[in-house]
Amino acid sequence: MSKHDDDKPKAPAGPPSPERRSFFTTAANLAMAGGLVASYGTLAGMAGRFLYPSKNRDRAWMYVADLVSLKVGDSLPFKLPDGSAIVVARQGERGDVSDFVALSSVCPHLGCHVHWEANNNRFFCPCHNGAFDPSGRATEGPPAAAGQSLGRYPLRVDRGLLFIEVPLDDSPDTSAG
Ligand code: FES
Repeated sequence: MSKHDDDKPKAPAGPPSPERRSFFTTAANLAMAGGLVASYGTLAGMAGRFLYPSKNRDRAWMYVADLVSLKVGDSLPFKLPDGSAIVVARQGERGDVSDFVALSSVCPHLGCHVHWEANNNRFFCPCHNGAFDPSGRATEGPPAAAGQSLGRYPLRVDRGLLFIEVPLDDSPDTSAG
């Protein structure tokens, strides 16, 4: 056999047998059906999560401060693990969790920094004179006109320590209250 024998065109193999053609047709149909089932299953799962969101979002409690370290009228800037800026303010001296509030310190109008004004009993945004009551509800300025409130975070007191509950997968509750 010469070295040029491999270069010669080979004779056509002929049409596949009916059994072999049937096998490939069945395999292709099964693969296509599997792809369709996977696609529609994924779509149905996403639609289900949209229509019926989980009530059990991942949340965690984070230490904030000793109660005694925050006097009435004090506020404490605080950063969450995701980088969100919040402010924790002490508004009473009962010594329980009702003394405290934790709100997003990002103004919902255009994102300026909001701070607690103890003497005016309000959170204030200096950019456009936006004001919020002690619960974070907008009372003056553009945020009040637009009905925008500061996002609020739950707090807990345990053995003289203040903790904040933070969502691990979503933003804070921005409804008033
Ligand atoms: S950014 Fe706060 S009032 Fe405009």
